Amino acid sequence: MPPRYFPTRGHLLLCQGQNCQARGARLLHAALWKALERDALAYYKTGGTVRLTESGCLGACAYGPTLCVYRERGGALEQGWYGAVDFPLARRVAQAVQDGADLPAEGRYGPDL
Ligand code: FES
Repeated sequence: MPPRYFPTRGHLLLCQGQNCQARGARLLHAALWKALERDALAYYKTGGTVRLTESGCLGACAYGPTLCVYRERGGALEQGWYGAVDFPLARRVAQAVQDGADLPAEGRYGPDL
C-alpha cells in the first residue's frame, strides 16, 4: 500500500545550512512549524495544505535565513525566494500559500517578479 497523500498547495523549504543557522534559522524553523500546527496550516491538519521542509544551502548564504516556496498557480510552477526571513515574514508566506493569495513582496528576490 502506498503512503497516504496529503493535498498540498505549496512547499516551503527553509535553509538549515551553516550560515543560515548562524542567523537563527533553526529557531525560525521550530517557531514556524509550531505556528503551522497551531493554526492548522500544516498539510496533515484538517484543512491544512502547507508543507515545510528543512533544506541544505539554497545559495544565498550572505542573505539568510533563506526561504523558498514552490507552488502551482494558474497552471504553472511559481517560485518565491526570500532572504533575511524572520518569523512574521515566514508566517505570511505560509498564509499566502494556504489561501492561494499573492506571495508577499517583502524580502523577495529571484524569478516570477
Ligand atoms: S547556508 Fe542558507 S543559503 Fe547558504
